[in-house]
Amino acid sequence: MAGNNVTITDNRNGNSAEFEILDPVVGNSSIDVRQLTSKLGLFTYDPGFQATASCKSDITYIDGDEGILRYRGYPIEQLANQSNYLEGSYLLMYGELPTAEQFQAFEASIKNHTIVHEGLMQFINGFHNDAHPMAMMVGVVGALSSFYHDSLDINNPAHRDLSAHRLLAKMPTIAALCYRHGNGLPPIYPRNDLSYIENLLHMMFSFPSEEYKISPIATRAMELVFILHADHEQNASTSTVRLSSSSGANPYACIAAGIASLWGPAHGGANEAVIRMLEEINDPAELPNYIARAKDKDDQYRLMGFGHRIYKNYDPRATIIRKACNDLLDEMEGINQPMFEIAKQLERIALEDEYFIERNLYPNVDFYSGIILKALDMPLNMFTVVFAMARTAGWISQWSEMMVDDEQRIGRPRQLYTGVELRDYVGVGER
Ligand code: SDX
Repeated sequence: MAGNNVTITDNRNGNSAEFEILDPVVGNSSIDVRQLTSKLGLFTYDPGFQATASCKSDITYIDGDEGILRYRGYPIEQLANQSNYLEGSYLLMYGELPTAEQFQAFEASIKNHTIVHEGLMQFINGFHNDAHPMAMMVGVVGALSSFYHDSLDINNPAHRDLSAHRLLAKMPTIAALCYRHGNGLPPIYPRNDLSYIENLLHMMFSFPSEEYKISPIATRAMELVFILHADHEQNASTSTVRLSSSSGANPYACIAAGIASLWGPAHGGANEAVIRMLEEINDPAELPNYIARAKDKDDQYRLMGFGHRIYKNYDPRATIIRKACNDLLDEMEGINQPMFEIAKQLERIALEDEYFIERNLYPNVDFYSGIILKALDMPLNMFTVVFAMARTAGWISQWSEMMVDDEQRIGRPRQLYTGVELRDYVGVGER
């Protein structure tokens, strides 16, 4: 077989050069274009990075055509049914499923870092009471670095591991504090006798006067939501964390940047946007109008929870979470059935419509995750915060991997310049 390379010829001048093809364990091969500019004076043009591998990674594999998602080689379906979020976090961070002793030590370390500095409470109290919790999360998580000057040497493996544990441990505490601030409720401290997810529910919904009765149904559903959202390859927010980290910024600031990117409705903000869309539709008779708007080129409107950059088939997470939605509806009385019915009708209509079929627009994980969160009485403005908490495992894993990747350099993309080439300054009197 000819060499594992491609030849690029610039037909404008006949210049030609060979570039190595890098083969993955599975998935698409990549052309190594690092010498493209020095050999041919060319850049690649790829807005949105649809065909660009930004890094090598061992963490998560996605096959958009086959609807495959695996964390460190384990199918998401198996992890969703047999594992839990904290064990999945260990797998993402360290590459292997933990032994019982390893998990016990890991869980103990996370429990050891759930409390936040009391000074952070003043920070949270400074927010207006109607501040969006994601706005608070971006600010507070970024500010965490101001409390840990003793362990911010990103070239020190022990400091990196400690920062990763602190972030994973404190995200639920901070998220719960942001929620309570927005609702005028006193802070509830973490309890180390509870599991990771039970602790989140306790810190959000308990009262000093009365413990929140943690429902096993709610805990199981939240474990599922968390593990399904834990990592997803080089998505926008993870790429933001990597790009921020490439300059040597501290992990708290980089995770805050990831939270900011996740907030967008085209990304993690979609779960909240799905519910707002379903509430706006409200009446199944209105569905054709909304489908028509989503198809109208002159209308910016899009169906939230549909479409994906990678999955051109069903999002495997949507398949899993749709079933969990059904099960939850059966298990919990009085859950918001009409909304779920509208969601199912919307899904059916869209999947039969040529516009969606030819564009491979299927429901993604956010289409149903919002309904589960609503069923669990999670406030709508906390939906993306839930996503941010869950994705923290992926962000810190990808960050840790990048910090030991000797091929990684500061991220500095180039551009296709389309502005004015050159002109002289003209005094204001002559303009
Ligand atoms: C997440 O990357 C990840 O892995 C993300 C994520 C993760 O776990 O990190 O999976 C989480 O972000 C899931 C996606 C959540 N977002 C939404 O549900 C918002 C609605 N979806 C769209 O905004 C859109 O589908 C994106 C952003 C998800 C994907 O955008 P792309 O890949 O850039 O696709 P595109 O915008 O180029 O659309 C291709 C075509 C266009 O029509 P044409 O120009 O070809 O005629 O499909 C149309 C789009 O107009 N289209 C939609 C649509 N999504 C795409 N039309 C109507 N409704 C939609 N939702």
